[in-house]
Amino acid sequence: MQAIRQGVGETLEHIPVFAPHIGVDTLKHLTDALDVGWLGMGATTKDFEERIAAYLELDGRHVVATNTGTSALHIALLAAGVGPGDEVIVPSFNYVADHQAIRYTGADVVMCDVRDDNLGIDVEKARRLVTSRTKALIPLHFAGIPCDRKATYALAREFGLRVVEDACHALGSTIDGAKIGSDGDIACFSFDPVKIITSIDGGCVVVNSEEELAKLQHLRLLGVDKDTTERYKNARAWEYDVVDQGYRYHLTNIMASVGVSQIKRIDEFIVSRRLVCERYSRAFSSLDGARVLRLDYADVSPFIYSLRVLGNRRTELIEHLKERGIAAGIHFMPVHHHSYFSHCRRDDMAVTDRVASEVVTLPLHSNMKPAFVERVIDGVCIFLVKHAALDRNIGIKNIPSQPTAFSFPGCGGCLCRLRRGRRRSVTPARHVFSRRHSSRI
Ligand SMILES: Cc1ncc(COP(=O)(O)O)c(C=O)c1O
Repeated sequence: MQAIRQGVGETLEHIPVFAPHIGVDTLKHLTDALDVGWLGMGATTKDFEERIAAYLELDGRHVVATNTGTSALHIALLAAGVGPGDEVIVPSFNYVADHQAIRYTGADVVMCDVRDDNLGIDVEKARRLVTSRTKALIPLHFAGIPCDRKATYALAREFGLRVVEDACHALGSTIDGAKIGSDGDIACFSFDPVKIITSIDGGCVVVNSEEELAKLQHLRLLGVDKDTTERYKNARAWEYDVVDQGYRYHLTNIMASVGVSQIKRIDEFIVSRRLVCERYSRAFSSLDGARVLRLDYADVSPFIYSLRVLGNRRTELIEHLKERGIAAGIHFMPVHHHSYFSHCRRDDMAVTDRVASEVVTLPLHSNMKPAFVERVIDGVCIFLVKHAALDRNIGIKNIPSQPTAFSFPGCGGCLCRLRRGRRRSVTPARHVFSRRHSSRI
C-alpha cells in the first residue's frame, strides 16, 4: 500500500485512478485453469465466450475472444472488409488503439469531432467527411456513456458503411434497455487490466453472421482452419489448412479463466461503480468551475468517471489531488495531436480540443472503499469552492490542506451556498466540511 504522510503519525492511503478487483474467486479460477494443464486457447476460452454472449443476451450473434481489445478492433475491421485504399472515420477524442487498428489494415484514418454532451461521435460533422473511399465508422461509447448510436447507424445506412462500435468502455451499458453489442453491426470490447472486467489482457468481437464468425476465428489464429473446434476441446488439430492471412490474437485458457471469474460478478461491479459516479456527480454538479457529464448513470456501465474542469485549472486540480494522495488521469489526449496521426484528414476539432483540455479522470473502482469516495469528493469540492470564492473575491481564509473536517469561514454554513449563480457574498460562519455535508450534496 502506498501512503502519504499527513500530520504527526498520520498517513493517508494512496488512491489510484484504477484498481482491478481481483478476489479469491479469481485466484481459484486461475489455479483451477493451471491445474487442467492446457494453458493455451481451449475450453475455458469457449466458456468465456459463451458467458459474454449470455451476458449481452445475444440472439443469433456470435462472440470471438481475442488477446486484446486492439486486436479485436483490427480483425473486426478486416471482417468488415476494410483494407488498403479505404477510409475509416473515427473520433480523435479516443484511445489510439482504434487509429492503429485502422492503419494495420492498410486503410486511412479520418478523424472527426465529438459532441459536447456525450463526448461521442458528432454524426453531422462525420457526414461532412464521407467520401467514395469511406468504408466504415468507428463510434466510441466514451467512458461507457452511449454515443448517438441511432444517428450513427442512419449515416451508415445512407452511405452503405460498416459500423464497428468501439464498446471497449461499455460492457453492460444499455440503449433503450438493450445492451450495447446485442444488436447492430460489429462491436468490440476490451478486458485489459483496468477495464470493468479484466482477463488481465483480452478483448472480443461480436458479429452477426456465421460467415464473419468463421473469418474472425481464422484471423485470430494464424489463418488456420479447423483448429478452433479442436482447441475448444483442449486439443489440437494436426491436419489443417491455412485459409487466410492470420494473426496470433487468440485468448488463452489462463486469461479466459480470469475473465470467467470476473464476468460472474459484473452486475455487482457495475452497480457499485454507478453509485460512485452518481455520488460524484451530485457532489460536483452544483459547484462552479466544473461540469459533470451525467447525473443519472442508470444506462451506463461506467469505465471511468470523467469530470470537465473549467477555467484552465485542470493541472492545478490534479496537483491539488496529488498532494492529498489522490491520483487522477487524463482521457484522452486527442489523437490528431500525436505526430504519427497529425497528418490524417480531419474536420474541425473545436469540441475535441476544448474537451481534451478540460477532462480529468477521477478514481473509480469496483466496490470502491467509501472512505476513498469521500476523500475524492472532499478533495475536488475543496478545490472548486476555493476557486469559486477567489473568483468572486469572497476572500475565504484557511482553506485546509487536510481533506476532512475543517472550518470554512466565509461560507454561510454549507458549500451548497456557493452554487452556481447564487450568493455573490457570504457571511462569515464556521463551516465544518463533514461526511454529513458530503452525503447531502
Ligand atoms: C477506447 C478504447 N479503445 C480500444 C482500447 C484497446 O483495448 P486494449 O487495451 O484491450 O487493447 C482501449 C484501451 O484502453 C480504449 O480505451
